Amino acid sequence: MRTLREVTALRGCVAGWKAEGRRVGVVPTMGALHAGHMSLVSAAQAGCDRVIATIFVNPRQFDDPADLANYPRTEARDAAMLGAAGVDVLFAPPSEVVYPPGFATTVSVAGVSRELEGAFRPGHFDGMATVVAKLFLMTGAERAFFGEKDWQQLQIIRQLVRDLDLPVTITGCPTLREPDGLAMASRNTRLSAAERAVAPALLVAMEAAASAIRGGMPVAGALSRARAAVLAAGFAEVDYLDLRGAERLEPLATPDRPARLLAAATLGGVRLIDNIAL
Ligand code: PAF
Repeated sequence: MRTLREVTALRGCVAGWKAEGRRVGVVPTMGALHAGHMSLVSAAQAGCDRVIATIFVNPRQFDDPADLANYPRTEARDAAMLGAAGVDVLFAPPSEVVYPPGFATTVSVAGVSRELEGAFRPGHFDGMATVVAKLFLMTGAERAFFGEKDWQQLQIIRQLVRDLDLPVTITGCPTLREPDGLAMASRNTRLSAAERAVAPALLVAMEAAASAIRGGMPVAGALSRARAAVLAAGFAEVDYLDLRGAERLEPLATPDRPARLLAAATLGGVRLIDNIAL
């Protein structure tokens, strides 16, 4: 595996692959890799001839400076995992390559960005969409792979690609879970042992709400029962636990179309998000 940090070198490498007729895929990440990321790598390898993984802890998508400072940075370990998995190129640019002095552009996807995470993390999705657009343009990959764990992010990226006619096909890959159901996430490492034991209660409450709604319980009642269960389990706050249309994420009072249950809740200072299909 080659590690590249400059756009010119990356483009040269990708141009060579394309000249040979290779299909190129990209797995964008912020590092601190876990099995969930590696499942994206496997999906990319199954669908492409050459795979680029990117690692860039994107400062523009952190609304909280402490969160950015505390975000785990484990590039040597990540690179070893990617190399062992057979990734062709790791693109890990320094900040000034992504945001050179004078950088002044923001990519902002209206509508689907504004609620849920968008409401609780102002600027987060603008920063995310900006860096994802840049990573698509820098890598020139024809396919890109993202986890369904960040369901809202995935819908925003799909909208971004449609709106800007970006020549990349987006594949969403299923959330990987720990044996007790907790969605895999880099932030999980920041939970204490006691918090880690409580964390699966979020999914338990979401699954109970989904099953109650499927069984005919009114959505509002099922959701407020689930929020109460999450708090009773020991979470400090539930930012949202909502039923939304699966694609545009519009609020749903009845499950009359493909729907997703999405939640964000804080446990001991760590914000966990999750989502399931209804
Ligand atoms: O999901 C992530 O890890 C990040 O939001 C992404 C897509 C790599 C952009 O920084």
